Amino acid sequence: MATKAKFQAIRGTRDLLPPETALWNRVEQTAHEVFETFGFGEIRPPIFEQTELFARAVGGETDIVSKEMYTFVDRLEKQPDPPTLADYGAFIEQAEKLMATEELPAVAGNRLAIERMKRIWDQGNVLRTEGESPIEKVDAAVLEELYKMVVLKDSMELGQNISLRPEATASVCRAYIEHGMQQLPQPVKLYYMGPMFRRERPQKGRYRQFYQIGAEVLGGSDAPAIDAEVIEMVMTFFDRLGLEGVQLHINSIGDKNCRPKYVELLREELRKVKDKLGPDSQRRIDTNPLRVLDSKLESEQETIEKLPRIAQHLCDSCRDNYDEVKRQLAIRGIIYSQNFRLVRGLDYYMRTTFEITAKGLGSQNAVCGGGRYDGLVELLGGPPTKGIGFAIGEDRLILSLQESGKGAVATGRDVYIAWMGERAHATAIRAAKDLRKAGFSVELPPVEQKFGKALGQADKLGAKYALILGDNEVSEGLWTLKTLADGSQAKYTEPDLLAHLRKSL
Ligand code: HAM
Repeated sequence: MATKAKFQAIRGTRDLLPPETALWNRVEQTAHEVFETFGFGEIRPPIFEQTELFARAVGGETDIVSKEMYTFVDRLEKQPDPPTLADYGAFIEQAEKLMATEELPAVAGNRLAIERMKRIWDQGNVLRTEGESPIEKVDAAVLEELYKMVVLKDSMELGQNISLRPEATASVCRAYIEHGMQQLPQPVKLYYMGPMFRRERPQKGRYRQFYQIGAEVLGGSDAPAIDAEVIEMVMTFFDRLGLEGVQLHINSIGDKNCRPKYVELLREELRKVKDKLGPDSQRRIDTNPLRVLDSKLESEQETIEKLPRIAQHLCDSCRDNYDEVKRQLAIRGIIYSQNFRLVRGLDYYMRTTFEITAKGLGSQNAVCGGGRYDGLVELLGGPPTKGIGFAIGEDRLILSLQESGKGAVATGRDVYIAWMGERAHATAIRAAKDLRKAGFSVELPPVEQKFGKALGQADKLGAKYALILGDNEVSEGLWTLKTLADGSQAKYTEPDLLAHLRKSL
């Protein structure tokens, strides 16, 4: 007998369930409200994009792109027909045509494969028989050539590389370009919320499907007041939610003028202390020395503290800019601490970077990260455009609210309707309709229950009131309302009952 499959959510993903989802809704609703007061409009980009978009924006050497994306090949509408043993010629011809019209990815790998296949084919050693040719009669050299053809064909990308989004800044910039948003009044202020996907090692506050609430300001000026206002918006949002232990960390990582020199200096210094670093950091000396500053490895901390700091190597304009960002934060009454190690794990940043931590999150305590990314839109093929934004980890935000006792959301029913008898059922259905129309949450049992059982059920569901409808109530036109907290009860006419509930709920 076949065993029954037991399905489980994929590692690193989870179901969000009631009553917790009520808290998620409250958080999201608050974001809509607060962000709209700052003049932001919502954008909902797709959940998957071309892999190349993320590779280009986030950076090919970053952990996110190099090992954490969920990537797959999406077969294109048109495919060359699979070659028959005897006729690779038709396959080559068709593939070339489809590549010319970009219906098949005209990537270097595909071009090379076709070129090599052509060379083999043109030598004329591969089978070219009409009809069937018993394979065992073919000599070894021909088989070898045929095998090479199969390998080459299988190496081809017969579709588009697509990835589930690991973040949304790249998508927002793509959308800005695609919809010609530079024609709109600048800056364009957009926010988004939704799931992101990164194949990280799951732990508390770290998931493979997680949720972000983020915002981006694109175009117009790069005035430091914009950096400060974006930060002010996140802080206002956190404040509105009552998030505790909020700490803002800021840094400036310079621009293309001063950062390369600092990175070189850092690389030289890192080479000198290479033996004191772990394998990850040793590798990063060559690939991305800034990321060494980010390391949490205990044994490296002392060494990292002694490394040169970017603040001392900013060019004049970056230093002035950073000073002005700090002044603008101060004017807004925003408290921050400076953290020279805050370099962020994505390549697109320049100048201002920031992270916000909150209470109760353990080692994954960053609840928000962001920064300035002038130049990203241009890198993606758009016009030169200023940009700054952030993303909040919603899972972590929720976790922190729960840990500090701010996670409770009232979810019990307002009214449980305990009815008995056919006539009462009809009245109960009408009462439920009217109460729901008035905005109350109502539970109407589908089958008759004894009153005792019904009241027990009402209690379990956390109902505030039980509306008791039996034959007497229906014929008198007076309905009994029981307050479950204290057991008191009173009789009301239908309109009085509504008025009473409106006042007390
Ligand atoms: P990020 O620092 O990679 O930045 O992510 C932002 C936030 O998302 C983190 O601070 C964290 O709260 C949350 N987060 C990241 N990975 C996970 C995970 N595996 N599980 C749970 N939460 C996670 C960005 O994504 C940038 N796009 C932010 C940005 C927008 N910069 C400019 N504009």
